[in-house]
Amino acid sequence: MPGEDGDVVGLLHTERADAAAGVIGGTEETTTGVIRLKSMEADGVLRYPIVAVNEALTKHMFDNRYGTGQSTLDGVIRATNVLLAGKTIVVAGYGWCSRGIAMRAQGMGGNVIVTEIDPLKALEAVMDGFRVMPMTTAAPLGDIFITATGDINVIDQRHFGLMKDGALVANSGHFNVEINIPQLAAMSQGEPRKVREYVEQYTLKTGQRINLLGEGRLINLAAAEGHPASVMDMSFANQALSAMYMAQNARSLKPNVYTVPAEIDQEVARLKLAAMGVAIDALTPEQEKYLASWEEGT
Ligand code: NAI
Repeated sequence: MPGEDGDVVGLLHTERADAAAGVIGGTEETTTGVIRLKSMEADGVLRYPIVAVNEALTKHMFDNRYGTGQSTLDGVIRATNVLLAGKTIVVAGYGWCSRGIAMRAQGMGGNVIVTEIDPLKALEAVMDGFRVMPMTTAAPLGDIFITATGDINVIDQRHFGLMKDGALVANSGHFNVEINIPQLAAMSQGEPRKVREYVEQYTLKTGQRINLLGEGRLINLAAAEGHPASVMDMSFANQALSAMYMAQNARSLKPNVYTVPAEIDQEVARLKLAAMGVAIDALTPEQEKYLASWEEGT
């Protein structure tokens, strides 16, 4: 039973528990879904084993980073026709998706600021050359804000009032919860004005206009086409091979969350390289012996 954001699994453990009887195992595609499943495992309520496809290297290193990175900017551009060059772009998070967004926004001439709550990720962002600061400090500087954290209210009441007139605010993380839209509405005069197909303009009581893109839902899906097929292929290959692994092994596994077996990850990378016509070197017997020996090379 393949899943997205843990939604199907959630249903099979609550309202449709009756349908879970025949399920021997599952796979889960997304970051958010895996977080939910791990908390179900910790609470001892998971009824069958699940492979966390999101944690395959050939999933998150490519789908989340390059897929979300590109398609998020595609969504922002299609929704607004904004020129990224020269704009100050605030990216919330420096995880797999958000770093892809930050890297690509910088590559298109954006002046990118990163916000984080994890010191390690923040340090990486600093050393990758980004300005890093709290959202409250970034709020008055940004022209475009993009969240991709999986967290709630990353842009909140305390930030909207500090923003420039005309700021663009978009989410590419989890559902529509990363931007506190009810607060934005409460701080605004009257109803938002639809200024373009995917742009709702809120006018704050203090006068600034804040443009919310795609109702705060994943902007790459709302206003663009999601990820290109040529990166989703690796995610779905992981899903398919993990489903096969589950069919063969689920009955001997405990109802826990499992990582994708390393052989599957390697196989997906090998197949992708072959499909792209890229050949790589193989270890010579001499090199294999050298790398495996603790007696040599120190
Ligand atoms: P990740 O765990 O690699 O990154 C999330 C980052 O956000 C972490 O570094 C974390 O420290 C940071 N963070 C958490 N709360 C924060 C806050 N309040 N302020 C600043 N940073 C904060 O996760 P990943 O894989 O990048 O996924 C992020 C979200 O994007 C998830 O909800 C995931 O489901 C979603 N996603 C969306 C896709 C799309 O098509 N738009 C595709 C893949 C994932």
